[in-house]
Amino acid sequence: MQWSAPLGWVIMVAMTMVSLSMVTSLDFTYHRHPAMSVFLQNLSVNYPEITHLYSIGQSIEGRDLWVLAIGKSPKSHVTLRPHVKYVGNMHGNEPVGREVLLHLIEEFVLNYATNSTLRTFLDNTLVHILPTMNPDGFEASFEGSCAGNVGRANSNMFDLNRNFPDKFEFNDLEQQPETKAVISWLSQYQFILSANLHGGALVVNYPYDNYAGASLSLATKLVPSPDDDIFQHISKVFSYSHHRMYQGGFCGETFTDGITNGAMWYPMRGGMQDYNYVHAGCLEVTIEQSCCKYPQHTELPSFWTENKDAMINYLMIVNTMGVRGLVKKADGTPVKGAQLCIMGREDIKFTTTAQGEYWRILLPGNYTIMVKTTDLGETNQIFTVQPNIPTRLDIVLGDISEPFNSGHVIQSCLLLLSSALVTIAML
Ligand SMILES: *[C@@H]1O[C@H](CO)[C@@H](O)[C@H](O)[C@H]1NC(C)=O
Ligand SMILES: *[C@@H]1O[C@H](CO)[C@@H](O)[C@H](O)[C@H]1NC(C)=O
Ligand SMILES: *[C@@H]1O[C@H](CO)[C@@H](O)[C@H](O)[C@H]1NC(C)=O
Ligand SMILES: [Zn+2]
Repeated sequence: MQWSAPLGWVIMVAMTMVSLSMVTSLDFTYHRHPAMSVFLQNLSVNYPEITHLYSIGQSIEGRDLWVLAIGKSPKSHVTLRPHVKYVGNMHGNEPVGREVLLHLIEEFVLNYATNSTLRTFLDNTLVHILPTMNPDGFEASFEGSCAGNVGRANSNMFDLNRNFPDKFEFNDLEQQPETKAVISWLSQYQFILSANLHGGALVVNYPYDNYAGASLSLATKLVPSPDDDIFQHISKVFSYSHHRMYQGGFCGETFTDGITNGAMWYPMRGGMQDYNYVHAGCLEVTIEQSCCKYPQHTELPSFWTENKDAMINYLMIVNTMGVRGLVKKADGTPVKGAQLCIMGREDIKFTTTAQGEYWRILLPGNYTIMVKTTDLGETNQIFTVQPNIPTRLDIVLGDISEPFNSGHVIQSCLLLLSSALVTIAML
């Protein structure tokens, strides 16, 4: 029998569709490290215009800590484009986050061409996703194990979410390779919004996670950060976009709005979220996505469904509020490494990039920004954050409307900034 041309075309098109779906379609199972690596490599090969796969280092057992960055021209620097991130599976036996992140990656990459909401977002943002920070712990843990700690730690038996320098208490634990990889990643990109994903509860936990002396008393205590208004807002964006988290009564615990201050739930030393906030100028929250730490894979479709909008809406906050701009000299050249703080919110340290850029998420309102440089002195500027869009504020040094020493409050903002710098240098 002779094939007609149309039938030949149908077969060719069908074969193309099969091979495309083999390359990209992700099933609802737990993906071991080799399968996850293949999935990420294949996507990066097939979508080079919008993906950039890189490794931030290796686990103790030599597994790569893969990050897939997603966005238009992901390898180029685009002035004032913000960087945001998700980190999954830092506790190896809490892998729901790892899998929903792989599905989120697929959602972004496959729908970029057809969904204008996602395309606009990814044209103006670079999303970095580290599906697993603890691949060794994952390989040591077991599907169906809802409680317990087998596989929680890395293979040196260190809990990675107790392994970071702490704002309130000295952390004497030896810093692990996975922790060092994340700390060095934070110095390579100026991330401004982030979440790390866990299991064992259903809640968004926001800074602070600790207070001075907490290790001795272990008492719970409300420890709000100066950015408590923003943290509560972004946490609610997640919990209310989630299908049920906002109801706040799951896994035997009660959380109003499905959110909690970290130390009010339980204090802990050396967490990653406070480190991101205090030392890297990045707003990070900790999201608990499942009562059972390692549920059966048959439950993964419903975890993806109930988290999908929340995970997308949370990242989209970055382009709906706050301030961003360039710090420049009078002749227009960018100022690298200028130190900035917002008056009244000095706990967060942020510095300009090599291109003179800065970003800060803030709710609409009036603020004073303080800029300090080593050779060009200091300045401060009052500005208004508009609703619904990021406010652009460029700061020209040497063209100062209010001199630095105009007020006591500004001075204390700077003093705190200097002491924060000393702390960084000692780490
Ligand atoms: C990509 O996917 C194909 C089909 O599933 C597989 O055979 C191949 O090994 C993968 N290639 C890479 C580089 O991961
Ligand atoms: C595009 O993506 C957004 C975000 O996930 C979603 O809310 C919207 O329904 C999608 N639009 C279409 C037409 O699928
Ligand atoms: C912010 O400042 C502007 C201009 O000075 C003023 O009109 C406005 O009322 C202020 N807004 C708030 C919330 O204080
Ligand atoms: Zn955890």
